[in-house]
Amino acid sequence: MNLYRDTHYTFRFAEDRLIPRFHLEGVEPGRAVTVFALADDGSRSHLLAKARVGEGGWVELADSLVVRAGSGFVAVPAPVYTIRDEVPTDAEGVRLVNRLAFNGDAEADLVEVLRAGGYVRASLVAESEGRIVGHILLSDLPIVTECGTVSALALAPMAVLPEFQNLGVGSRLVPAGLDACRERGHRIVVVLGHPAFYPRFGFSPALAMRLSSPFSGEAFMAAELVPGALTGVAGRVEYTPPFGAWV
Ligand SMILES: CC(C)(COP(=O)(O)OP(=O)(O)OC[C@H]1O[C@@H](n2cnc3c(N)ncnc32)[C@H](O)[C@@H]1OP(=O)(O)O)[C@@H](O)C(=O)NCCC(=O)NCCS
Repeated sequence: MNLYRDTHYTFRFAEDRLIPRFHLEGVEPGRAVTVFALADDGSRSHLLAKARVGEGGWVELADSLVVRAGSGFVAVPAPVYTIRDEVPTDAEGVRLVNRLAFNGDAEADLVEVLRAGGYVRASLVAESEGRIVGHILLSDLPIVTECGTVSALALAPMAVLPEFQNLGVGSRLVPAGLDACRERGHRIVVVLGHPAFYPRFGFSPALAMRLSSPFSGEAFMAAELVPGALTGVAGRVEYTPPFGAWV
């Protein structure tokens, strides 16, 4: 048999194949799908394509996939999840997401110290089938200028469970976090993050150019929650004590 599919939408091929489209049984039209290469051990490897399920469950790819004999791909439909404010019973799930996403305890510890210190201004979770699959946290980051202190927030950390990464969860968490902060009266957010990811949400290194910090370069970015909020603001960002070991 040339092709088979398991319940995780894993496709394997016995011969070299060019795949312009594939079929997902039981997935409704309109749902986003992310396609990953298949690692030798059967797990997901790198991202190959993003697409949308069409009529009858067919997924048409913008560019055909080239699949070598014995290899294949995994198609993962976008998960169903909700985004909401963190509540006290989420603490364990939030810790797990941060530990698994960052492969260690440091960010999970940072979340707990920021929370205990009263520095958190927004902490949102993505929940899927009762499980916390993503988390974003924004905390105080005052900017000390010659004319006084301007309040701002640091976006850190932000994490999505490895098996939910690249499925769009982070791209919904960031705007939700920024909207929550704007509604709470905040005006400026600073992030040290992936330069290819954050600009799509309004962050830019240019907006952070007049802010001095222990970090520099294109990963240090700022965003205005209110247009013009950074106009005329030049100063030093003051990371709060929980960030002590990081700055
Ligand atoms: C970074 C992270 C929060 C993004 O969340 P996500 O749900 O995977 O993101 P989405 O599916 O919404 O978006 C994926 C996009 O982020 C990009 N991205 C993911 N990880 C990235 C990385 N390490 N560097 C640069 N870009 C990255 C992807 O390339 C993709 O871009 P595209 O939309 O242009 O294809 C998540 O991958 C994660 O938890 N990573 C490990 C921890 C981490 O790095 N946290 C962020 C610290 S700033």
